[in-house]
Amino acid sequence: MFKKNIGIKISTIILVSLFSLQAFAQAWTIPAELKAKTSYIPFTSSTSKEGEDTYTKNCMSCHGNPGKGNSMKALNPIPPDLAGKVTQQRTDGDLFYIITTGRGVMPSFKDVFPEQERWKLISYIRSFNRQYVQVLSTFNPQKAKLVKFDITYNAVNHLVRVAVKATEKTGMVVLKNDSVDIYAKRYFGRLQFDNGMITDKDGIAYFKFPTDLPGDKAGNVEVIARVTDDNYGEVTYQTRMKIGVPTDKPGLTEQRAIWNVVSKSPIWLVVVFTSGILFLGLFLLYIGFSLWKIRKIGTL
Ligand code: HEC
Repeated sequence: MFKKNIGIKISTIILVSLFSLQAFAQAWTIPAELKAKTSYIPFTSSTSKEGEDTYTKNCMSCHGNPGKGNSMKALNPIPPDLAGKVTQQRTDGDLFYIITTGRGVMPSFKDVFPEQERWKLISYIRSFNRQYVQVLSTFNPQKAKLVKFDITYNAVNHLVRVAVKATEKTGMVVLKNDSVDIYAKRYFGRLQFDNGMITDKDGIAYFKFPTDLPGDKAGNVEVIARVTDDNYGEVTYQTRMKIGVPTDKPGLTEQRAIWNVVSKSPIWLVVVFTSGILFLGLFLLYIGFSLWKIRKIGTL
């Protein structure tokens, strides 16, 4: 009797805690300065339209149509309806943070969309809130043009050194304590190497580089670096560096392959496709001929 009671108690406790996990979504912990971040792009019907296109392709599968409450209920936690009160009560900075970093099932879109596109998504999300009044940031996106990257590679210790500075009229400004990421451009998307780093007091960050990354015939690799700074915004820079292993294979876009353009599709595909079309054509001719014959019999 006693044992049975314990069993019931334990299962009740487990059930109740499982339910409360479902019911109370975990709060987001967002640093104060990021919470206060605002967009430098004014939200207009055209930014909202652009945001809608991005939303439809990348978010709707989980979040559903805003305001319709048709998000994907099978997920845990259930993706909130972004037109809803909970989301609309968040600051623009909160939304930007959530879309940028993600958590659990909610993907991070940091490497998927540049900053402007993330703000346009928020412009779309805000278009469902009549009470919303935008607070614009005084940030000047033109300042991004002042940022200069200097990227060098040390073949001895396999370290890529990234130095970031801005040329202001008053002189050079070192971008210190900023987050930097670097990537190698691949055929399909980018490959991040090493983790994100923070620049030191001289605006410099070091990255470990894989020694076996294939490059082109001469060993060239397209390297992309990105820095995020409060004053200068998110700045990307691309350069070609001779740091890969020379690879003499024809490029993925040069050889015949399924993913290539029509003139470079695989021979077997061309043969199968053309014979398919030919067969269909002959078959249609045959049907036409048979119909003609039937008609002739009918008129006899
Ligand atoms: C794979 C499914 C999935 C996709 C795709 C997705 N989300 Fe989410 N999203 C979630 C889930 C699940 C949560 C809840 C996460 C949590 O609270 O831990 C969430 C939370 C959010 C929140 C916070 C809502 C709130 O008020 O709590 C925002 C904002 C958001 N997503 C925006 C987006 C945007 C914009 C996109 C497209 C660029 C997107 N999401 C794509 C699943 C997804």
